[in-house]
Amino acid sequence: MELVNGKEIMQKALDGHYGIGAFNYVNIETLKSILDTAEEKGSPVIVQCSTGAIKYAGVDTLVAICRSYAKNMTVPVCLNLDHGQTFEDCKKCIDAGFTNVMIDASHLPYEENIALTRKVVEYAHERGVTVEAEIGVLAGVEDEVSASEDDARYTDPKQAYDFVKATGVDSLAIAIGTSHGTVKFKGEAKLRFDILEQVEKLLPNFPIVLHGASSIPQDMVKLAEEYGAVLKGAKGIPETMLREACSHNVCKINVDSDLRLSFTAGIRKHLTENPDNVDMRKYNQAGMELIKKVVADKMDNVFGSTNMAR
Ligand code: G3H
Ligand code: 13P
Ligand code: ZN
Repeated sequence: MELVNGKEIMQKALDGHYGIGAFNYVNIETLKSILDTAEEKGSPVIVQCSTGAIKYAGVDTLVAICRSYAKNMTVPVCLNLDHGQTFEDCKKCIDAGFTNVMIDASHLPYEENIALTRKVVEYAHERGVTVEAEIGVLAGVEDEVSASEDDARYTDPKQAYDFVKATGVDSLAIAIGTSHGTVKFKGEAKLRFDILEQVEKLLPNFPIVLHGASSIPQDMVKLAEEYGAVLKGAKGIPETMLREACSHNVCKINVDSDLRLSFTAGIRKHLTENPDNVDMRKYNQAGMELIKKVVADKMDNVFGSTNMAR
């Protein structure tokens, strides 16, 4: 089917009380692994490209492969720009066929974040494309920060409310303690569910997005390390916490690192066990099998999106 926009896919998730994985892709291998799993599971899915992925593969190519696969699928697929930095980043993707864009101006002063987000919303909405924005600083939870430093990095719920009203944005990424990459916590994992609950109270029935939500499955870490990876301190968001987030208004959960980890673990294993193989289809396939395993587990056991599009 045709790609759907973010509002359509996320509203259904809110109504049905489940989450939707937003998985990053950079090539056919990552995209096909995600989409094949979504179709097998009967799960709606969001796929997304960062500006780095666009630089790597080209915007038109990334749209074309996504449309080409989605055309033959029965489950809804949304194509999102991940962490657009500028109006031009967003415009380029909207013009190329993305159905949702994220404008990440969270590093700018609050008023500038509002102004830039509004500009993107205006351009996108005129073209049927929906927009995600972000407030708060996405940073890992360190062991030793002062209480005031600690508070400053999280999203202020009242500001989240004001921001949504001022911008007309369709979904909002908030900072409650998640962070990007394979090392997320030095000590125990900690997410600020109290902030999430306050946001949910102020913005009922509004889609919230969690970035940096890889769980860094320890069986994948072990496997990758067994075949030569060095992944000191690799630790993600516990699945119980992600499940809890999905029971609130979190309906888009961003996952990239888990796919990178599982893909490379599969390739490492294959190449070690088959040192004579030079056929890239074979080692890519080994990586793809593990991406599929990880995505399937999230749909079935964490986000609860399996069968939600049947
Ligand atoms: O949020 C960041 C994503 O994992 C994309 O990472 O900019 O290296 O493609 P990237
Ligand atoms: P992870 O690094 O936890 O996979 O987060 C990905 C992400 O937030 C993409 O926007
Ligand atoms: Zn992110």
